[in-house]
Amino acid sequence: MAHEERITTGVPALDEMMGGGLLPRQMVLVTGPPGAGKTIALLQFTLANLQQGRRCLYVSSSDDPEMVVENSLRFGWNFKPYLDSGQLRIVTFRLMDTDAGLTTNIRETMPRTIRESKADIVVIDSVTEFQDMCATDLERKGWTMELRWTLRDMGATALVAAEASGGAGITKYGIAEYVSDGIILLSRFTSEDTSEFVHVIQVLKMRWIQHSKELRAYRVTSKGLDIMSPIYTVLAAQGKKRESL
Ligand SMILES: Nc1ncnc2c1ncn2[C@@H]1O[C@H](COP(=O)(O)OP(=O)(O)OP(=O)(O)O)[C@@H](O)[C@H]1O
Ligand SMILES: [Mg+2]
Repeated sequence: MAHEERITTGVPALDEMMGGGLLPRQMVLVTGPPGAGKTIALLQFTLANLQQGRRCLYVSSSDDPEMVVENSLRFGWNFKPYLDSGQLRIVTFRLMDTDAGLTTNIRETMPRTIRESKADIVVIDSVTEFQDMCATDLERKGWTMELRWTLRDMGATALVAAEASGGAGITKYGIAEYVSDGIILLSRFTSEDTSEFVHVIQVLKMRWIQHSKELRAYRVTSKGLDIMSPIYTVLAAQGKKRESL
C-alpha cells in the first residue's frame, strides 16, 4: 500500500527505520534499561501527535500530571495549551498509593479510564509498573490482554514503555513483547576504546511493516532522542566522537 497512513514517533530517524512511523491502531513497546530514554521518547511521541491534532491520553504510574508538564518543559515541550484545551489528558495511577483493595481497583479502573478517554493516541509509562500490581502471573497476563483489547476496541494507537528483562526475555514479565505489535528496543554497551557507554536503538519487531534491522547509536539530548546515521553509529561503537568527524 503506497499511501498508508502512519503515526509519527516524533523521532524522524525512528520513523524512517519503520518505513514512516507506526501503523494506526498498533500497540508498540519502548523497552530498555533505566535511563535509556523511554519516558523522553514517550513525551516526544505525545507532543508530535498533539501537534498533528490527535487526542492524546498520557497514563503514568509514577509522575503526577504537574511533574509530566514540568519535566517536559525542560526539553522545551509545552503541554499546557493542550491540557487546557482538553486535547491532552494526563492521568496518574500510583503504585505506592495502593493497598491490596486499591490495587484491584486500579486494575479495573485503568482500562475503563483509557476506554472512556476516546483518545486517538494512548501513552503508558510504564506497563511494567501496572503489571507489578497484579498478584499472580495469570492476573498479569489477563490484565495485559485486557489492556490490548481495550486499545483495539477504541482504535487507539499506543506507545507503551516497559522495563527490560534482567534475564533472557525482552521485558520483565515476558508478556508485553508478545501482546504488542511492535518492539523498539533501547540498550547500551560500553565502547571498546572509551570508558563511555553507547546507547543503541533497534526495531526488534513491527507487525505488518518491513522495518530496518539496523542497530543505530543514539544520544539523549536536551531536544530528545537523537538517532545517529549508520556511519556515525559504527564510529561511535569504535569510540570515536561524533563531533570529531
Ligand atoms: N536535559 C537533558 N539533556 C540531555 N540528556 C538528558 C536530559 N535529561 C535527561 N537526560 C538523559 O536521559 C536519561 C533519562 O531518560 P528517561 O527518564 O527517559 O529514561 P527511562 O528509560 O524512562 O528510565 P526509567 O526506566 O528509569 O524510567 C538520563 O539518565 C539522562 O542521561
Ligand atoms: Mg521512565
